[in-house]
Amino acid sequence: MKNYKFAVIPGDGTGPEVTAEALKVLAAAGRKFNFSYVTETFNWGGENYLATGEVLPEDATDKLKKFDAALLGAIGHPKVKPGILEKGILLKLRFDLDQYINLRPVKLFPGVETPLANKKPEDIDYVVVRENVGGLYTGIGGFTMKGTDNETAVQSMVYTRKQVERAIRFSFELANKRHSKAAPWRGLKPEDIAAGKTAQLTLCGKTNVLTYVFDLWERVFYEVAAEYPHVKTDYAHVDATTMWMVKNPEWFDVIVTENMFGDIITDLGAMTQGGMGIAAGGNINPNGVSMFEPIGGSAPKYTGMGVINPLAAVLAAGMMIEHLGECEAATAIEKSVAYVTGNKLKSMAAGKMGYSTAEVGDLVVANL
Ligand code: IPM
Ligand code: MN
Repeated sequence: MKNYKFAVIPGDGTGPEVTAEALKVLAAAGRKFNFSYVTETFNWGGENYLATGEVLPEDATDKLKKFDAALLGAIGHPKVKPGILEKGILLKLRFDLDQYINLRPVKLFPGVETPLANKKPEDIDYVVVRENVGGLYTGIGGFTMKGTDNETAVQSMVYTRKQVERAIRFSFELANKRHSKAAPWRGLKPEDIAAGKTAQLTLCGKTNVLTYVFDLWERVFYEVAAEYPHVKTDYAHVDATTMWMVKNPEWFDVIVTENMFGDIITDLGAMTQGGMGIAAGGNINPNGVSMFEPIGGSAPKYTGMGVINPLAAVLAAGMMIEHLGECEAATAIEKSVAYVTGNKLKSMAAGKMGYSTAEVGDLVVANL
């Protein structure tokens, strides 16, 4: 029996509550699918920073490297100036562990209300691959003449070919995998299928304005595409992408994009799938330690009330074990969540689910 080692970073606000439910579900899945795990908890976050003045210990990355994966609750504290914890913990871990993929499924579960009129679960089921360590997040830039009328601020979108290529390769591989299970032939037209295409990958960029960075992305995209003749390639500018995500989400299967565009479009995606209570993501280093998290924040006003929706954290835990190869268990978790959203919860919103946070965790366990 495989015994995994998970680093758990519950974080701030409601982070610990949702993490507890995710671990509860993981334990039940382990009993059923024959794996176990041990955890070590790291209390990094706003509370810890306010108490000790330390954002993240220097050996944090080295510590995390000893685990199979990490599960993060939420980072963010109302008494800490915006930017400190985000940059000092979340972004730092993503960078230092070279988690160069941010994988964000956009999936409407049954029974979940979407703001998109007339769209059903089969219409909203795609994955955004957000490049996770480059671009504007590199932080390259600066000021000149700060504080004067002539002040200039620069922040550059920086990409190396290597960064672009590994994100694009990951996306083609993912398109392959998705075709074989969750979403056969998604977004393809009959003529594409007749032409032998089995999956679709959309590059989301801005080739009409960012003529250097997306020239590189586009060239690499089509170079790699030549190795995947059965994946249909598609391109959309980022502004148009937001349009189609609202109007025709069924057109998408896998979308690959740069870091900041991915940050923005995945919040839109999360809203279309019913909000932050149900949106999960993974910061992935395919050759290292990956970190999975609910996309939503720490929701401080609900702290300790047992009303927050834990399903995003539960799904993040499911993505974590899927990443580690426990595909059956991951599928069972997702199916159970779908059963619970479809048959039990009144709403995805905090305090309106009709159940407490722990009861929702119990429901997922009971229906595994
Ligand atoms: C996210 C968040 C982070 C990001 C912030 C908190 C730094 O918005 O995970 O999408 O911009 O990547
Ligand atoms: Mn974001």
